[in-house]
Amino acid sequence: MCGIVGYIGKEPAAPILLGGLKRLEYRGYDSAGICVADGGQLHVAKAKGRLENLSGMTDGGRTLPGTVGIGHTRWATHGEPNDINSHPHLSEDGKIALVHNGIIENYLELREFLERKGVRFTSETDSEVVAQLLEYYYKKTDTVLGALYMVLHRIEGAYALGIVCADAPDRIYAARKDAPLLLGYGEGCNFIASDVTALVQHTREVSYMEDGEVAVVTADGITVLNAMELPVAKPRQHIDWEISAAEKGGYPHFMLKEIMEEPEAMRRAISPRIKDGRLVFDGLQLGRTELENLRNIAVIACGSSYHVGMMGKYNLESLTRIPVEVTLASEFRYCDPIVDERTLAIVISQSGETLDTMAAMREAKARGARILSIVNVVGSSIARESDDVLYTYAGPEIAVATTKAYSTQLAVLDMLGIHMADTLGLLTAERYDALVCALQRLPEQLDAVLADCENIKHFASQYFNHDSVFFIGRNLDYALGLEGSLKLKEISYIHSEAYASGELKHGTISLIEPGTLVVALGTYAPLFDKAMSNVVEVKARGASVLALTTAQQRGQMEKTADAVMTVPDTEPMFLPSLGVVPLQLFAYYVALQRGCDIDKPRNLAKSVTVE
Ligand code: M6R
Repeated sequence: MCGIVGYIGKEPAAPILLGGLKRLEYRGYDSAGICVADGGQLHVAKAKGRLENLSGMTDGGRTLPGTVGIGHTRWATHGEPNDINSHPHLSEDGKIALVHNGIIENYLELREFLERKGVRFTSETDSEVVAQLLEYYYKKTDTVLGALYMVLHRIEGAYALGIVCADAPDRIYAARKDAPLLLGYGEGCNFIASDVTALVQHTREVSYMEDGEVAVVTADGITVLNAMELPVAKPRQHIDWEISAAEKGGYPHFMLKEIMEEPEAMRRAISPRIKDGRLVFDGLQLGRTELENLRNIAVIACGSSYHVGMMGKYNLESLTRIPVEVTLASEFRYCDPIVDERTLAIVISQSGETLDTMAAMREAKARGARILSIVNVVGSSIARESDDVLYTYAGPEIAVATTKAYSTQLAVLDMLGIHMADTLGLLTAERYDALVCALQRLPEQLDAVLADCENIKHFASQYFNHDSVFFIGRNLDYALGLEGSLKLKEISYIHSEAYASGELKHGTISLIEPGTLVVALGTYAPLFDKAMSNVVEVKARGASVLALTTAQQRGQMEKTADAVMTVPDTEPMFLPSLGVVPLQLFAYYVALQRGCDIDKPRNLAKSVTVE
């Protein structure tokens, strides 16, 4: 999704803006632009495609003088990706430049209003409407801040805005509603940005803007005002992760780096929550009375986070016996969900900024549900709006395809389930100890899975040429297949589908023909025999079968499958935490063989901040 960065200080702004945009690349974009204010002059440069184009066009920013500026990476929603539709957008008189992340829902109506007043538009975007409306009100009020508040009263939708004005070149204005924006505090300089990765090189002191807030950023300080135009004291947060955590560290792709970081990420997610053999969730207000009062659990998420929720349905229900419904966040708002004060809504999101998820969370909250979120990005919107937050501590995830965040979400959800079952008195001491012990072994077992990476690479080289792939499995293996399939299709562009194996005979088996690749998931020991029958079924129709199973079941699987990947044995509920890694690696190596842009797959964005 779009990325915003703004700088004001004593250094040339353009190279700093380009550096910040570079770090926001992972969010996904199709064009980029910057505007630098130099006294009363605004210099704008924009280019379709990679940031290198913009950098080349401006000699690394050196051709744009000035120490104040805003930059943007655009992920097109209104109007095709081209130079004109790129941000920053200028008002008609060229005095106001604006960058925007989000969607202005009533932009057509506002555009018509301005066109009737004689304003001429240059782009097809919803964002330009905001720049033109600012000029319209600025001419009436003569203050940018006054004009900005008038604009905010008229626009509907989601926005993070960065604005510079030629008449006030010593400040950047910022505003936020339903799209992430944070403020960075430097020495003799200050920043705005969509997320901290754009800033960590310059400052680790940040504060997060809330919906309805407006900021006036100068080199010497930042003033934040609320929707009533009253000053707000913003608490600062210190970012303590290293810059190297957001760099490739010698790996060819962020995705591979992040897969290799999974054992460490898992350790960070698990260790702080186990003390003296007991699971502890500091600050979590979910005692026995609250749990006994629950009528249902509603899990809300998108994409891979939704797949974690699918796992959660199996594991949470079996542990707690509380009914769990998992709903795609984009559907939740519109399905009149059965949610009230007796519902626990578990909201799962890596970024904590996914708009669909945020909107669904607010819907659940409005219906009285208690919100518990599982989030990776500390201080993100979803985390801040939840009643309880469980952070996954996976560290920054840059590749669009999620890997380590998925694994840690899964581990945290499983831990939560065990904790809830224990609080409800549903686990014997022996069972509890066995589960906690198995949990603690996961990081080292993940190391063992990663050690098999060359084998998986070999399988990828055998199978990368297939046009269509089916992932099949039962129970947790079915939920795992959903994630394996998404991983493969999003980065390799191979058409792939995941099916509950038992469903094959109800239709899909007609698609199996000689040479079709079936990835058969048979890790879940309680249903291994049934998984084997499905492997035999597809083999009989000529499919090539790449199977995934556990070390113990390998011999059996090898009798039928063409190729077998394995993970160590553990408690069945934790098998997907191990099993997902070979599937992530398989997708990665297949995409590599096919020459795909692995970290930034076409049409996709890391953080989806539009509906
Ligand atoms: O940040 P979130 O977890 O809310 O993101 C949800 C999905 O957009 C995300 O999981 C997406 O499906 C990933 N690209 C999958 O790799």
